[in-house]
Amino acid sequence: CGIIGYVGDQSALDVALNGLRRLEYRGYDSSGVAVVGAGALRTARRAGKLANLEKLLAESAAADPMPGTTGMGHTRWATHGGPTDANAHPHTDCTGAIAVIHNGIIENFAALRAELEAIGHELASETDTEVVAHLLEVELGNAAAAPAAAIPEDVTPRPTRPGTAPASASVPGSGEPVGRVAEPGTHPLTVALQRVCRRLEGAFTLVVLHRDFPEVVVGARRNSPLVVGLGTGETFLASDVSAFIAHTREALEIGQDQVVEARRDGVTVTDFAGEVVEGRHYHVDWDAGAAEKGGYPYFMLKEINEQPTALADTLRGRLSADGAIVLDEERLSAQDFRDVDKVFIVACGTAYHAGLIAKYAVEHWTRLPCEVEMASEFRYRDPVLDRSTLVIAISQSGETLDTLMAVKHAREQKARVLAICNTNGSTIPRESDAVLYTRCGPEVGVASTKTFLGQVAACLLVGLYLAQVRGVLYGDEVAAYVERLQRMPDLVERTLGRLEPIRELARSLADAKAVLFLGRHVGYPVALEGALKLKELAYMHAEGFPAGELKHGPIALIEPGLPVIVVVPSPRGRAHLHGKIVSNIQEVRARGARTIVIAEDGDVAVEPYADHLIRVPATSSLFAPLVTTLPLQVFACELALARGLDVDQPRNLAKSVTVE
Ligand code: G6P
Repeated sequence: CGIIGYVGDQSALDVALNGLRRLEYRGYDSSGVAVVGAGALRTARRAGKLANLEKLLAESAAADPMPGTTGMGHTRWATHGGPTDANAHPHTDCTGAIAVIHNGIIENFAALRAELEAIGHELASETDTEVVAHLLEVELGNAAAAPAAAIPEDVTPRPTRPGTAPASASVPGSGEPVGRVAEPGTHPLTVALQRVCRRLEGAFTLVVLHRDFPEVVVGARRNSPLVVGLGTGETFLASDVSAFIAHTREALEIGQDQVVEARRDGVTVTDFAGEVVEGRHYHVDWDAGAAEKGGYPYFMLKEINEQPTALADTLRGRLSADGAIVLDEERLSAQDFRDVDKVFIVACGTAYHAGLIAKYAVEHWTRLPCEVEMASEFRYRDPVLDRSTLVIAISQSGETLDTLMAVKHAREQKARVLAICNTNGSTIPRESDAVLYTRCGPEVGVASTKTFLGQVAACLLVGLYLAQVRGVLYGDEVAAYVERLQRMPDLVERTLGRLEPIRELARSLADAKAVLFLGRHVGYPVALEGALKLKELAYMHAEGFPAGELKHGPIALIEPGLPVIVVVPSPRGRAHLHGKIVSNIQEVRARGARTIVIAEDGDVAVEPYADHLIRVPATSSLFAPLVTTLPLQVFACELALARGLDVDQPRNLAKSVTVE
């Protein structure tokens, strides 16, 4: 889900909607906003994409405007309760004074709900989120009944505004903006949220508003992202910086189990017990334009074309004068890397495919055993880990909960964890021992493209570094690989320039029922990635197989006309495999498949068996995925567009999945 909270001088509704437009990639099952102003809390929410909410707001603007400079917005990826209007956020308490938005899952919500119902609360939705609004109502009611417990003595309670609902009737608050109602971090709403968070289990980012407290927006987080944007006279709370980048680039990280009280003049961060803690300031170096379409009809098209730059930026400055790889936040020494006797790579989705490619490079270069595992399975099978295990966690967002939990498990078992991540200030790098950032800039299209290339490049750097510090490769061998790697952005650029034939082919296959993808060696993970892209974007049945495995079962799927895309290894670098894959192409062709062959320039041996031949520039075998993936990305994107689908926001998906 995507979250934005705001307190300042601008129209909160405008800020929230603009933020949601940039956050929509995080979930788009439903969306909603809440604004506090003119003594009222108003909410609006709608199932479906943000456009549905915008339509609703446009229709009701004249009769029911939402004035106010304190507000929040939410775009949802459904967990508890289907994507209906009633389950859309914000959720409110019985009095309608408190509104809550939430990302994550509150695991003990059923018990909390039963408890609330037992004391007379009626809950209107099926969501876990709504319990938080009601728990806040209870806490504020308790605080009001015993003001000394929750409100510091130096605060003089102000008169209650007429019409204030009973739950918050005697809580100080005039409905008017005030500079300071309490010591920072001790606002009644902050204290209530601290207390509620102590009772919650699971993962959550919460942002709350109260009708009577327009001076604050309060947020909290556990295992789910929340960052603060610090403007001049205005403050933002958001799932990620893209939501406020148009307003400020000064950001503050919020740590695990912390509550943030946002006011116009700044924020106070506390832990759930109410102790004030320091947040970490950082400057966001993306400019606002990086998160915009820049003339392309879809982010995905823009991001595909940004791949040469993303790759060059990820490689740039990564080597010190003595040839060592430079990690970003290093809490691991060269000796730690020398002590490694086993490597695990954990990741999800596209990042997992980058990990599969890394395995070939890491084992080849370092002679260390390397296992790659889907993060969601990793900790539940009790993997054998110790302090000489290196776990590499790959995640674009740095927030994927499956990956985060794998990282935590690995560290509990004393393994060293290196994160490969694209998002500065996100949770996974913070929970790891070291991080190497892929500097791909913001990726908005839900299906990863440029960050996949960045992840592959970062993995290759780590593999070379390990080989170097362990003395398996000599410095000049590493330097030769690095030099070739540095030529890759140029090859990527050239590959992108010649993909028109695959676009045409994709359009001609818009009505195909299924597509198979075959590969060998690093071409196998590329085949898996090609199939995933097609599933994600075109909702087509697509499978990737190792070409050698085909004869052990999947070949039964081949029928006349079935498109089969084959990623062919280099006839120079992998001659032994090349001959075998040529045989595999013949096997499927003999059974009527329509063969689409991706082969490097100069590979003439495949020509007789290719119904369609897509050429890519020749490169080192281990670097080939950086070019062979490109036609598959373009194929999936173009085919989905030909089917009239939205390639930036495919159905049922979200870019950042912060639930397990
Ligand atoms: C989601 C997205 C995928 C992505 C995966 C891992 O499932 O839909 O496109 O590959 O998460 O995301 P991460 O941010 O950890 O790389």
